[in-house]
Amino acid sequence: MVAVVVTHPSPDDPLAALEVRDRAPEPVVSPPEDWVPVTVRAASLNHHDVWSLRGVGLPADRMPMVLGSDAAGVGPDGEEVVVHGVISQPGWTGDETEDPRRSLLSERYPGTFADTVLVPARNLVPKPPEMSFEDAACLPVAWLTAYRMLFVRGGCVPGQTVLVQGAGGGVATALTALGSAAGLRVWVTSRDEGKRERALALGADAVFETGARLPDRVDAVMETVGEATWAHSLRALRPGGTLVVSGATSGASPPADLQRVFFLQLRVVGSTMGTREELQRLLRMCVTTGVRPLVDSVLPMADARDAVERMVRGEVEGKLVLTP
Ligand SMILES: NC(=O)c1ccc[n+]([C@@H]2O[C@H](COP(=O)([O-])OP(=O)(O)OC[C@H]3O[C@@H](n4cnc5c(N)ncnc54)[C@H](OP(=O)(O)O)[C@@H]3O)[C@@H](O)[C@H]2O)c1
Repeated sequence: MVAVVVTHPSPDDPLAALEVRDRAPEPVVSPPEDWVPVTVRAASLNHHDVWSLRGVGLPADRMPMVLGSDAAGVGPDGEEVVVHGVISQPGWTGDETEDPRRSLLSERYPGTFADTVLVPARNLVPKPPEMSFEDAACLPVAWLTAYRMLFVRGGCVPGQTVLVQGAGGGVATALTALGSAAGLRVWVTSRDEGKRERALALGADAVFETGARLPDRVDAVMETVGEATWAHSLRALRPGGTLVVSGATSGASPPADLQRVFFLQLRVVGSTMGTREELQRLLRMCVTTGVRPLVDSVLPMADARDAVERMVRGEVEGKLVLTP
């Protein structure tokens, strides 16, 4: 038995709030009785877990809380499943990401870094037999976010040029791999030469140092970095281009540069997670194209501290997978 838990908000030292326990704590908010158990076979670490340890988006009165927002495992009838981590309110019928009362697993109800997680039955999606539990566990948060940024919110089509800010992150590697598989010309920036090299191996057409002048303007920019890259993202766009933003790892209050936005008629579009249907489409895309997540390493949940430490230091390339 194992559960990876955040005990208190720890803004400056996220590792100080992490505990690996031999059983999950009693939930502060109990999942509804009709939710079904999934035996977790693999889960993956997201930057969201670091924000939770820092107390961002997770108030102290909901702690202790089991971390983890995505998983693949075995459902109540023995079927192999992928867990869609967006929990909408009962009776919600539209786009789950637009439900104002939605939460992500580990925000209100216990997360996936445990032997078992309880979820609404509608959040289970069949795992394709071609895919390992470890690969499937990378998809519901980082990869689904990338899918929606590129193809739903960004409306990118084959032949366009897209700039991905950051190379090594879970979302950034997904953007590179999915964009390349879909016939986009993918340009990637990174602070690190090794990560830039490996982005080329993942399918990037060209790589640049963070903030470097580009040879041409791009149709769309995919932003998860925030303050550190925002001005460069706006400068990189062609007139009428689209900036899709789903994260702000380096800070969320960049200068807006409104003159550039209105004069060049740029579109700035927010994007968050994805729907259950988009997760199913992403799984089909992975099966038909053969694209698979870049997995940095697979670790036992007991070693979650090492995994979080590497993410905080910015050393991860792709996804860190945790197994119970
Ligand atoms: N809205 C949503 O639904 C959603 C979903 C998933 C993630 N997110 C957010 O998206 C962000 C990324 O998530 P993740 O799980 O992919 O995290 P991650 O694996 O820790 O990724 C970090 C990425 O940020 C880049 N980076 C960090 N600091 C930077 C800086 N100062 N300058 C330039 N680049 C920097 C890194 O690029 P290098 O290659 O240079 O190291 C790397 O690509 C997080 O803020 C997360 O909360 C939002």
